[in-house]
Amino acid sequence: MAPKILIVLTSFGEIPGVGPTGWYLPEFAHPHEVFHKKATLVIASPNGGKAPLDPNSVKMFESDPVAKNFLDTQESLWTNTEKLADMLARVDEFDAIFYVGGHGPMFDLTTNKTSIQLIESFAAKHKPITAVCHGPCVFLNTKNSSEEPLIAGAQVTGFSNAEEDAVKLSAAMPFMLETELQRISGKTNGYGGALITGQNPASAGAVAEAILDVLG
Ligand SMILES: *[C@@H]1O[C@H](CO)[C@@H](O)[C@H](O)[C@H]1NC(C)=O
Ligand SMILES: *[C@@H]1O[C@H](CO)[C@@H](O)[C@H](O)[C@H]1NC(C)=O
Repeated sequence: MAPKILIVLTSFGEIPGVGPTGWYLPEFAHPHEVFHKKATLVIASPNGGKAPLDPNSVKMFESDPVAKNFLDTQESLWTNTEKLADMLARVDEFDAIFYVGGHGPMFDLTTNKTSIQLIESFAAKHKPITAVCHGPCVFLNTKNSSEEPLIAGAQVTGFSNAEEDAVKLSAAMPFMLETELQRISGKTNGYGGALITGQNPASAGAVAEAILDVLG
């Protein structure tokens, strides 16, 4: 049977005083390209309904054919998302969870109790927990059953401080992702299941391939 993957998008669409944000187009478009023939996908966001697409990512990737085609043909995937809270009772249905990046997740998903509970539930069932770019922020506050950080000692990557400086958004962020990932993961041991993370938009397709690999 085809694996079933829960894809999570942010509901956060505007950084006050800075401008529109959301989830990042190629980080959904490229994984979708990899997944769509091989997996069943369910898309959710904290608020459900329309999950805000970062307009900057649309502009940046206007000459990327995969992103462009996804934008033109798959809109219902991000305008009709399920409510994240409704997924808590459905964890057994899924084989893996994947968080799309963008600056939005930094604001709503890092601290969202529903999201944290969902990830901890996937982890407790040894299902892959995966994310790309800013998406790994969702793991910062997750714990295992011994109340230790899930990513303690784990190899985890994400959008770097240098990349954040380069896009001139460091001052607009609630925290620096690389700094926090290093602070929380910098211990021994770590999550025994599959933890798959990718650094930036260019890693999104490879993360999706890696997810399908561990699902066999
Ligand atoms: C988390 O998301 C849920 C919806 O899934 C929302 O009702 C809740 O207010 C959010 N909580 C926080 C702390 O952001
Ligand atoms: C929780 O994580 C800590 C630190 O990584 C580890 O020592 C411990 O064995 C884990 N507990 C469980 C139940 O997995």
